[in-house]
Amino acid sequence: MAENPLALIVGANRGIGLGVVREFLAKGWDVVATARAPDAATDLQALSALNPGRVDIRALNMADGAGIDGFAASLAGRTFDAVLVNAGVAGPSHRSANAATVEETGELMFVNAIGPIRLGRLLLKNLRSGTGVLGYTSSVMGSVALNAGGHELYRASKAALNSLSRGLFAEMRGRNLTLLTLHPGWVRTDMGGSGAPVRVEESARGLVDVMIRSAGGRKHAFLDYQGKDIAW
Ligand SMILES: NC(=O)c1ccc[n+]([C@@H]2O[C@H](COP(=O)([O-])OP(=O)(O)OC[C@H]3O[C@@H](n4cnc5c(N)ncnc54)[C@H](OP(=O)(O)O)[C@@H]3O)[C@@H](O)[C@H]2O)c1
Repeated sequence: MAENPLALIVGANRGIGLGVVREFLAKGWDVVATARAPDAATDLQALSALNPGRVDIRALNMADGAGIDGFAASLAGRTFDAVLVNAGVAGPSHRSANAATVEETGELMFVNAIGPIRLGRLLLKNLRSGTGVLGYTSSVMGSVALNAGGHELYRASKAALNSLSRGLFAEMRGRNLTLLTLHPGWVRTDMGGSGAPVRVEESARGLVDVMIRSAGGRKHAFLDYQGKDIAW
């Protein structure tokens, strides 16, 4: 790792993303953190006030392709040791292919799979050669091997992210980078619900440790927040 390592966390306004920002800061890293509405990102603003000059809060909506391209262009010349594309949505509450519309399916797939790959591909040149790590917050629900049914639209969006990430890794040969497709655990957030067993702090600490430990491995792996392999 570099002397003053720098991380980019996409979707850092709340939940797991905010926890990951906290954890990188606690480890002495500087952070670029994105929120859809930075002016309303009060928790991120508080972290920035507590850590002067170390948290750069940027606007990014992962449902906006041109916005993703512009955001990546705005980072020209910056080198990241770790990037975690964490933003994600659960999809329509009916959760069913039989009730789904083109619009809601398009939004779910774009935010959870297409947008993250588009952004990651644009940022490959910003990752530190040799030790740079690109991470995606996926889910065990994206595993085809472990699919026991239910939540079929969300599962499909994360399976698409997993497949696209493998394709991106194939493009990355020769760049000496590491790509991680990560399961954060079932975490107590707005998405995970109050009954989830894993606390945000526990998941975030695990995800950050896994990213740091994997630096230099130059592999593509599907790992949980404790570093265990998950079947694709
Ligand atoms: N919680 C779990 O148990 C669990 C399990 C497996 C995987 N995951 C994955 O972990 C990631 C984080 O989930 P979470 O539990 O922390 O969920 P959360 O509390 O609902 O937070 C979701 C985050 O994604 C951001 N986001 C949503 N749509 C966005 C968009 N169009 N553009 C930019 N940002 C957007 C949100 O920003 P706003 O605040 O602006 O809405 C928020 O920061 C997701 O990818 C999720 O699929 C979660």
